[in-house]
Amino acid sequence: MTYKFSDRVPKTDNDPVGDILKAAADPKVTSFAGGLPAPELFPVKQVQAAADKVLQEKGAAALQYSSAQGVPELRNVILKRLEVEGIHTTADNVMIATGSQQSIDLTAKMFLDEGSAVIVEDPTYLTAVDVFRSYGAHFVGVDMDEDGMKMDSLEEALKNNPDTRLIYTVPTFQNPTGRTMTLERRKKLVELADKYDVMVLEDNPYGAIRWEGENLPSLKSLDKTGHVIYMGTMSKIFAPGLRIGWVVAEPKLLKKYTMLKQSADLHTDSFSQYVCAQYFTDNDINDHIKKITALYHKREQLMMDAIDKYFPKGVSHSNPQGGMFLWVTVPGVKSSQQLFDAAMKRNVAVVPGDPFYGNESEPGTFRMNYSNTPEDGIVDGVKQLAAALDEVMSEPATK
Ligand SMILES: Cc1ncc(COP(=O)(O)O)c(C=O)c1O
Repeated sequence: MTYKFSDRVPKTDNDPVGDILKAAADPKVTSFAGGLPAPELFPVKQVQAAADKVLQEKGAAALQYSSAQGVPELRNVILKRLEVEGIHTTADNVMIATGSQQSIDLTAKMFLDEGSAVIVEDPTYLTAVDVFRSYGAHFVGVDMDEDGMKMDSLEEALKNNPDTRLIYTVPTFQNPTGRTMTLERRKKLVELADKYDVMVLEDNPYGAIRWEGENLPSLKSLDKTGHVIYMGTMSKIFAPGLRIGWVVAEPKLLKKYTMLKQSADLHTDSFSQYVCAQYFTDNDINDHIKKITALYHKREQLMMDAIDKYFPKGVSHSNPQGGMFLWVTVPGVKSSQQLFDAAMKRNVAVVPGDPFYGNESEPGTFRMNYSNTPEDGIVDGVKQLAAALDEVMSEPATK
C-alpha cells in the first residue's frame, strides 16, 4: 500500500528529538535534555480539591462541550496574569488553546502559505520549527547575542524578505538559550513590526520564573498598532498535563483564531479549564511560582558552579536570570551530534543544537535543562559531561 501523504507530513521517519528524549528517559541516564518542570512541586492535593469542587458544583458543565473561545471563568483568571505582563485587555480578546503548542500551530495555519517567510531567532524553540516547516515556511534566522535578537539583523531580514508573514520570538528566558531581550530591543522590535507591517508572535512560557533582574514589559504591552499576538501557558508555572494555553489578539484576529480552533478540536478540554480556574480562585499562584523559582534557581546555580569548575577552558554558556535552560557553545567542534554521542557514552543526555535552527545550525552547541534534575544528580552529571567535552575537543577537528 502506498500512502499519498500531503506535503505537511514529514518526509522521513527520522525523529532525532524523539530518539534523544527516549534515550534520556533511561533511568541510568542523568538527563539535562527535556524541558520538564520539577514534578515534586506539582500542587497535586490542591488540584484534587479543585477537581472535587468542580465536579460537585458544576460537574455537568465540566463534562459537556464548551465554547471554542474557552470557559469564561478561566479567561477571567488569565486576565489577572496578563495584568502582571502589563497587558490590559478584556476576556473578549483572550482565547484558550490546548497548550501554547496549539497557539503556534493555529498561528501558522492562519498566516503561512507554502514558501512564506517566517523570521525566527537563531536558535529558536525546536517544536515551533517543526510546526512552521509543516506549513511550508521559508525560515529566515536572525542572530542573537546575550541581549536577545539583534535588531540590525532583524531589520536586514525584513528588508530582504518583503514576503515575511511572521516574526516568532521568545523574548524572555528563551528556549533554548535562556537569554532575555533587553527593553531597548523590545521597543525596536515593535517599531520594526509596525514599519514593515509584519505580525509578531510573542511566546512567553517562562517569563514569570525570574530570580534575578527586573521584570521587563512584554512586547504586547509595548505594541500600540496591533501587530503583536501574545501567547501564554500554564505548562511551566502550573502543570503541563492540563494542556492549557492562551492567545491574546485584537478582536478581528481573535475571531479568526476561534474559527480555526473550532475546526481543529472544537475546544480545549472543559474539565481542565474549570479545574484550572478553580485552582486559581482558591490558591495564590504567585506563592506557587515563588516555590518553583526558588528551586530552579538553586539547581541552576549548582549547575553553573559545576560548569565553571569542570568544563574545559573555552567552552562558553549563557547566564539565564530565570527560566529552565542554558545554552552551551563548544569551540572547534564540527558537529553537535558528536557531543551528544560522547555525553551518552557517559550516561548524560543534553539536546544537541541542530534541531533548534530553521536553516544551518551552529556546530558545537547544546541545550541544558536544570529544572527537572534533582540536586544530587547535577554535579556528577556535569562532571561526566565535562569529560565528554574534553574527549571531543581533543579529537582532530576533521571529524
Ligand atoms: C518556547 C515554548 N513555546 C511553547 C511551548 C509549548 O508549551 P505548551 O505545553 O504550552 O504547549 C514550549 C514547551 O516547552 C516552549 O518552550
